Amino acid sequence: MSKEIIKIFDTTLRDGEQSPGASMNTEEKIGIALQLEKLGVDIIEAGFAAASLGDFEAISRIASKIKTSTVCSLARAIDSDIKSAGEAVREANMKRIHTFIATSSIHMEHKLKMTPDEVIKRAVRAVKYAREFVDDVEFSCEDAGRSDIGFLKEISDAVINAGASTINLPDTVGYRLPHEIGFMVKEMSKFIGNRAIISVHNHNDLGLGVANSLEAILNGARQVECTINGLGERAGNAALEEIVMTLKTRSDIFSNFETNINTKEIYPSSRMIANITGIEPQPNKAIVGKNAFAHESGIHQDGMLKNKSTYEIISPESIGLDMSDTLVLGKHSGRAAFRDKLQKLGFSINDEELNLSFEKFKALADKKKDIYDDDIRALVTSETVHAPKVFELVSMQLMDCTNGVPSSAITIKHDGIEITDAGIGSGTIDAVFKTIDRISGYDGRLMDYSVKSVSKGKDALANVTVQVTFNDDEPAIIGHGLNIDTMEASANAYINALNSYLSMTGLLKKRYCNEEERI
Ligand code: KIV
Ligand code: ZN
Repeated sequence: MSKEIIKIFDTTLRDGEQSPGASMNTEEKIGIALQLEKLGVDIIEAGFAAASLGDFEAISRIASKIKTSTVCSLARAIDSDIKSAGEAVREANMKRIHTFIATSSIHMEHKLKMTPDEVIKRAVRAVKYAREFVDDVEFSCEDAGRSDIGFLKEISDAVINAGASTINLPDTVGYRLPHEIGFMVKEMSKFIGNRAIISVHNHNDLGLGVANSLEAILNGARQVECTINGLGERAGNAALEEIVMTLKTRSDIFSNFETNINTKEIYPSSRMIANITGIEPQPNKAIVGKNAFAHESGIHQDGMLKNKSTYEIISPESIGLDMSDTLVLGKHSGRAAFRDKLQKLGFSINDEELNLSFEKFKALADKKKDIYDDDIRALVTSETVHAPKVFELVSMQLMDCTNGVPSSAITIKHDGIEITDAGIGSGTIDAVFKTIDRISGYDGRLMDYSVKSVSKGKDALANVTVQVTFNDDEPAIIGHGLNIDTMEASANAYINALNSYLSMTGLLKKRYCNEEERI
């Protein structure tokens, strides 16, 4: 008997980007979308076109590059939002508009200040208008988890008649328990039948996002919305990797279902998102956390040596994680061996990117004894997915600040010219960032700074993430820098944030024209 497909709707680039500190520039979003396509997600929610010109541009560029996944934009149930969404996904092979309005009494009364009848009218109008741009329209009943089921049926009936083919029932505030979600989905499924696909979108405020999504599948949902590493608003969304691996591992329970996900791309996708956002999954995170396959206790290790099935329900290989991940390349290794390693890790990069990455690899191999797969992943991601390098660090010197005034001398390339200047600060990092400001002419304000090691060892690569505002009216920009030297990684992160800012300037301007339009 053929199995039913559970569609995987990935919203890492939209709901995931709403995680504090997870904003990404256009190049990064394109890199992620291409990886999601490789992973096999059915629908990529590439952003919220009306939110900013930057979002619009990123969705349009993703739409023109993605071939096998549907590209989707979110839109409030407002004409101007739907128009932006329709225009942004226009070039896509397969396109969808996802429009939504809140359906719970709390939201309708306090947020929308609209009656249920007005909400239905607005929803129907939105879906009809969206159908003028695309054939595939998804409608979400925002806060469905706290909505009256009778009203959910009424509005779903109306929007299906207006042309929606997917009805999404988000537990927007992550309030519901699995049996409650199961009940809601079962009721809605009986009511809707095969007139539309039922989708769920579960937030994780009580840590139940994945459990709720699985219960929804058992009760009739055929699409789940989720994110890589469980990124998302507040406590995040249901994690894609956990849903997919549960369906696969517990195929005894989910015997009628399968997904189109190539699970071997799960780990590479997780690393890419962590490298780009600077948000590491917690070490004990299911499936992709650093400790997910580590066996610490002697009893467990003994069992594993005798037979892996004693303590392992998922093999690391099934998610694309090679546990013997020390690169046997060293500083004398050639380009061919390096290219071979990249192929094994699933990177398909052009010759120019290969040359740049190889140069960086050689420089790293000169300084670092053991190079792990995660080092290579981080290095190649930072070389291939970044905003245009308007400014580029050439060299830097720091003055010892133990007793004296912290100072730095930095050379930066801009427009083919090398500019050198020096500056002081209240600490070394302050001195470095102030010197970069002097050279670039932009005055950045550091909002957040964090440093993490990519792999293990005292000589580990440092991955620095900064959040910088270059204009108080605009959101903070994220920058990343990777280097064995933490100070150089910091300088690179700051310059990377500036480059992202420049590539987004003019695109950041909010497109909402007036307050009334904000729902
Ligand atoms: O959580 C939510 O309700 C959403 C909708 C916009 C689908 O993200
Ligand atoms: Zn959400």
